[in-house]
Amino acid sequence: MRLPWLTLLPLTSAASLQRITTSFGPNPTNALFYIYVPDTLPANPAILVNPHWCHGSAEAAFRGSQYANLASKHGFIVIYPQSPHTADSCWDVSSRETLTHEAGGDSLGIVSMVRWTLNKYSGDSKRVFATGVSSGAMMTQVLLGAYPDVFAAGSAFSGVPFGCFAPTGRNNSGVYGYWNDDCAKGRVKKEAEEWKAVIKAGYPGYEGWRPKVQLFHGTKDEILDFVNHGEAVKGWAAVLGVEGGPVKETRDTPLKGWTRFVYGEAGWLEAFTAEGVPHDIRVQENTVLEFFRLNYTEGYFSWGEGGPGVKPVRV
Ligand SMILES: *[C@@H]1O[C@H](CO)[C@@H](O)[C@H](O)[C@H]1NC(C)=O
Ligand SMILES: *[C@@H]1O[C@H](CO)[C@@H](O)[C@H](O)[C@H]1NC(C)=O
Repeated sequence: MRLPWLTLLPLTSAASLQRITTSFGPNPTNALFYIYVPDTLPANPAILVNPHWCHGSAEAAFRGSQYANLASKHGFIVIYPQSPHTADSCWDVSSRETLTHEAGGDSLGIVSMVRWTLNKYSGDSKRVFATGVSSGAMMTQVLLGAYPDVFAAGSAFSGVPFGCFAPTGRNNSGVYGYWNDDCAKGRVKKEAEEWKAVIKAGYPGYEGWRPKVQLFHGTKDEILDFVNHGEAVKGWAAVLGVEGGPVKETRDTPLKGWTRFVYGEAGWLEAFTAEGVPHDIRVQENTVLEFFRLNYTEGYFSWGEGGPGVKPVRV
């Protein structure tokens, strides 16, 4: 196929998606490591992790959003991990291993990619972020819960709460890639304190600083029921100590029919209700970048800064 018009476009960047095949640290499930490194970077670049959706790939995630372009513009690195589970290319968000700090699973492989990148590019370890859609949103919540010491913030589009996909009433050790239909259909409901216990079990004994959380969900989600949005809000609100309902509500933001609810004065939890939107939600790159302050040149948002009264202690 010939694409003659390409020659008319200014070539702004030579950077492209690369696969890292060297050993990059513990990766027990053999997740694949793809990375986008802009040609020009600041001295200590931030890192954005963008896990793909089910039946997706690193390449599809790379092409399916503006994050790589924005990384070139603002000078950060994007890691596009790829699921090793070839049957459905979903992420493992059910096993004890993936849901527990340093215990293994896909989450540990992804964290190894982060650590390798921090080392290789002198990255800013206090500005590591995660965002994704669907299975990528579920993995984002897994990363925030199991690795609160690694991530400064996360943003999840059409996901489920941390731990919701773990099989109920069963030992989930080694139970990788389990499809929890009860969770998907919105039948897994817990009290705020129960979700808090589930999230805290992701890193037993951890009392340190917790990442900020941003959640988006369509009210007409036919794959991962909208109930999951409310359940996730309850859990994170309890963990972050911002219970008691939203302190601010803004209609028609960032799109018409979407409403932003902010929990806690410090804005540690933001939840967007997308009225009438199905599972296939439109990613809002600019709103995510603003939450992470990845489009700022000064006044960065960093791990350990601010928050609802939790001491910045890295264990
Ligand atoms: C769960 O299974 C794992 C591996 O089979 C085992 O090591 C562990 O003791 C079990 N945990 C419980 C609570 O039964
Ligand atoms: C970052 O992006 C947001 C959303 O587009 C915008 O409102 C904000 O002004 C931007 N901040 C900077 C410093 O450019």
